[in-house]
Amino acid sequence: MKYQPMEIPYGKNHTLQNTPKIVFQIIGTLILLTTILLYYPLLGYPSFLLFKTSSSSTSSHNFHEVREHSLSVSSGEKCDIFTGEWVRNPDAPYYTNTTCWAIHDHQNCMKYGRPDSEFMKWKWQPDGCDLPIFNPAQFLEVVRGKSLAFVGDSVGRNQMQSLICLLSRVVYPVEVWQNKAGTSTRWHYEKYNFTVVNFWTPHLVKAKEADPNGPTLTGLFNLYLDEFDESWTTQIDEFDYVIISGGHWFFRPEMYYENNKLVGCHYCQEKNVTDLQMYYGYRKAFRTAFKAINSLENYKGVTFLRTFSPSHFENGIWNKGGNCVKQKPFASNETHLENIDLELYMTQLEEFKTAEKEGMKRGLKFRLLDTTQAMLMRPDGHPSRYGHLPGANVTLYNDCVHWCLPGPIDTWNDFLLQMLKMEGGKSRDS
Ligand SMILES: *[C@@H]1O[C@H](CO)[C@@H](O)[C@H](O)[C@H]1NC(C)=O
Ligand SMILES: *[C@@H]1O[C@H](CO)[C@@H](O)[C@H](O)[C@H]1NC(C)=O
Ligand SMILES: *[C@@H]1O[C@H](CO)[C@@H](O)[C@H](O)[C@H]1NC(C)=O
Ligand SMILES: *[C@@H]1O[C@H](CO)[C@@H](O)[C@H](O)[C@H]1NC(C)=O
Ligand SMILES: *[C@@H]1O[C@H](CO)[C@@H](O)[C@H](O)[C@H]1NC(C)=O
Repeated sequence: MKYQPMEIPYGKNHTLQNTPKIVFQIIGTLILLTTILLYYPLLGYPSFLLFKTSSSSTSSHNFHEVREHSLSVSSGEKCDIFTGEWVRNPDAPYYTNTTCWAIHDHQNCMKYGRPDSEFMKWKWQPDGCDLPIFNPAQFLEVVRGKSLAFVGDSVGRNQMQSLICLLSRVVYPVEVWQNKAGTSTRWHYEKYNFTVVNFWTPHLVKAKEADPNGPTLTGLFNLYLDEFDESWTTQIDEFDYVIISGGHWFFRPEMYYENNKLVGCHYCQEKNVTDLQMYYGYRKAFRTAFKAINSLENYKGVTFLRTFSPSHFENGIWNKGGNCVKQKPFASNETHLENIDLELYMTQLEEFKTAEKEGMKRGLKFRLLDTTQAMLMRPDGHPSRYGHLPGANVTLYNDCVHWCLPGPIDTWNDFLLQMLKMEGGKSRDS
């Protein structure tokens, strides 16, 4: 399996929000210090540093209201499986790096010497009901004759690899296709005629790397916010289930195009271009992605939004020694969704809600795979410095963005199975 570009990690240090001078000094230092793994494209700049005053419109909204609406439509159940606590599970994990070959090297934390293994030994306990542990045989029955697409970035791929590993107790898939860059792969479970694909589209919309350097020497992307990324939009109408996600790439400097005209940017540092902030691009990207889905005549699948997956850099930013060293989950009363995480989450939910209404008109189902709260509570689940050899020249030295396998991201597939069961195995012609 090839290495793929990672998305830009970022942290939560908000003390620099209003100090552009410091920002510029830091940019200078960053440029000097950033080390790049050979086969990685240059990573973007951690834009939380560039985060000016939050012109947050969404966080003032009642987040519970929006969420509850979406969930009740999504699940039709009285129990919200996405609100709860992590509880100990001595039986976990259900695979290891020796039983499963599908673990991406950078998420193979045990290979790189992670000393603790407690982070594998938790399960999600929803308030008021139970979430069964993933049952691979049952999953394969539910998806028999069906197809599932992960549409997004390397965190989406992280979930797909977790799924392949969870299913590996029963059977492995065969690879039937890969794109040239090795970033998108199609797997087939012959005995079950089940297809899984990940479509690499970190921005969800049409995007071009305009400049490998950009204002911060870390790359600059042109995003065509109203144009479909045809690498996936032309491929998904055959799919029964589509899981769409995105987030960390929107932190990079970006030029925003609409109607083929430059309308603004995110941290492009050009005096004659309006900085619209990342939320603008993020919102429009989801809007366009959902619009693409709703416009596919032959598509009859169920669309899942897998919500934003928070990172956990502490005591510094991603390339300034920021790290995630906790070895235990938070309890729900020890942390809460705020700042950038909240803003991105709310933006997604709002666009999801609009798309869901639109899709309902033609009988398309939209479902919320609402992993944000559970993952916010898992600062212990990231590779940290165990995603590579010690001392390796990698960009993301301490990876507090992706998730170790096995690890807490396996729970996303517990959620997924539960949700697929609720669909009653009928996504087409129902
Ligand atoms: C790390 O790799 C980059 C890209 O190959 C190279 O430019 C840089 O000098 C390397 N840094 C160190 C400390 O080896
Ligand atoms: C699996 O993890 C062990 C440590 O638990 C490590 O020694 C080994 O190299 C890893 N194997 C693979 C195939 O990743
Ligand atoms: C396998 O599933 C696909 C849909 O995913 C279907 O079109 C095809 O006919 C199935 N093949 C067999 C042999 O059942
Ligand atoms: C902004 O100004 C630069 C020169 O300072 C010019 O190269 C660029 O084309 C201008 N961009 C727009 C959108 O006018
Ligand atoms: C969180 O709740 C638990 C009981 O459920 C309590 O023991 C603990 O002190 C609380 N922690 C905080 C930070 O409030």
